[in-house]
Amino acid sequence: MAMSQAALKAEQAIGHGDNATTVQDVTNPDITPNAAGEGTMKALAWMGKNKVEVIEVSKPKIMEPRDVILKITGSTVCGSDLHLLHGSVVELQKGDILGHEFCGIVDEVGSEVTKLRKGQRVVASFQIACGNCYYCDKKLSSQCEKTNANTIENAMYGGRTAGMFGYSHFTGGFAGGQSEYTRVPYGDVNLLALPDSVPDEKGLYLSDVLCTSWHAVVDTGVKKGDVVAIWGAGPIGQMAAEFSLINGASRVIMIDQNWRLDFVKDRYPNVDTLDFSSLGKGESVTSKLKEMCNNRGPDVSIECAAGEYAKGWAHYFEMMLGLETDTSELINEMITSTRNFGSCGITGVYVGFTNHFNIGSLMERGIRLIGNGQAPVHLYWESLLKMVEEGKIDPLKMVTHRVRLEDLDKVYYKFDEKADGMQKVFVETQFSAPACKGSPQLKRF
Ligand SMILES: NC(=O)c1ccc[n+]([C@@H]2O[C@H](COP(=O)([O-])OP(=O)(O)OC[C@H]3O[C@@H](n4cnc5c(N)ncnc54)[C@H](O)[C@@H]3O)[C@@H](O)[C@H]2O)c1
Ligand SMILES: [Zn+2]
Ligand SMILES: [Zn+2]
Repeated sequence: MAMSQAALKAEQAIGHGDNATTVQDVTNPDITPNAAGEGTMKALAWMGKNKVEVIEVSKPKIMEPRDVILKITGSTVCGSDLHLLHGSVVELQKGDILGHEFCGIVDEVGSEVTKLRKGQRVVASFQIACGNCYYCDKKLSSQCEKTNANTIENAMYGGRTAGMFGYSHFTGGFAGGQSEYTRVPYGDVNLLALPDSVPDEKGLYLSDVLCTSWHAVVDTGVKKGDVVAIWGAGPIGQMAAEFSLINGASRVIMIDQNWRLDFVKDRYPNVDTLDFSSLGKGESVTSKLKEMCNNRGPDVSIECAAGEYAKGWAHYFEMMLGLETDTSELINEMITSTRNFGSCGITGVYVGFTNHFNIGSLMERGIRLIGNGQAPVHLYWESLLKMVEEGKIDPLKMVTHRVRLEDLDKVYYKFDEKADGMQKVFVETQFSAPACKGSPQLKRF
């Protein structure tokens, strides 16, 4: 936390780069100069470590000619939002409006928006892309060079990611969509029209989960016949399991420790599970996976948990003392579990540096360790929308709750505790249509 605020202060002192073509640090219309429109709205804001609050704030307004103002009809909470809640992602500011997965109705368009009109139903990508830089030309939208001018990220990573909605000043500082209205820069690039046949409750997840899970599978290189092991049985891990099978995997094993494994067993009967909290004496995830996979281990391993979740005391204290930002335990477990010359992909969020990395096993056994990156949504969202339309993918499979924006602070805490069987939620606003067929009933908190 101290580091998070120190990074923010350093950024303010050094100043941003000059690469961005859209205004930065627009996380709250009442804090950002010249960002407030007429009237007010409800929004979920970060108020400090482990504290979020539903606040009343000015509506956003068009600031640039390619902006769209979206009236939000659906959003959700992501495992990535927990990294913000916990303060492990740096450079948050009190009052920042969160939420990077949302859909809605076009309410207003800037003078240079050509492809969208008022009243259209659309989903937003979690990243903000300009549409015509080096990476955007290749549809690698998560790495757009023109929407994030953060200097600390550039120095720390040797390059920047794209700007992201509701994801701290580290990624540009943009207000998110856990709100009633959101400003979308480069609206006709970052919004995808939804056909009538795809309700919000299904289209919403093209923002992130579907594209991220698909990317994790194809980028790590799952091939026909592969045995795939997935760490983390949250929504990302579950969809990655489904997409591994669609891409030809012969077997999928999911590793986690809580009721989510029962959820997986129930909804994905052809996926095997491994509960690391119930291992016997002398057993480890690696020894168990070897046992399950011909004593060699899986062909492909995918990390869908995150670097902030330490398993043992050593990394817990090292992180607490600021000696590292992320644990290497999961990555080491993946490396030692995977068969020689197999592949490991990292999709769970890692922020900075880690200790005790098992580079020896990686080198000697020829393990291909792949950072999957923030997933490039624009590369996949059209083809995945088609699969949703055709009924080949049912995003509602991972959705456990329908909740109200007004209750979202309480929902964050429940989601964090994995309480109430809560996994993926659909957050409705006063503008949402009635629940579609197959959606959970509204639950108030
Ligand atoms: N790269 C991207 O573009 C991208 C996009 C979205 C989400 N993510 C990240 O993917 C990760 C998963 O997202 P989610 O929404 O499913 O999160 P989630 O928090 O709902 O699920 C994470 C799961 O990991 C499990 N876990 C924790 N430690 C573990 C361990 N040592 N071994 C096995 N499992 C463990 C937890 O019990 C939990 O069920 C998060 O880190 C999220 O930030 C990345
Ligand atoms: Zn997300
Ligand atoms: Zn770009």
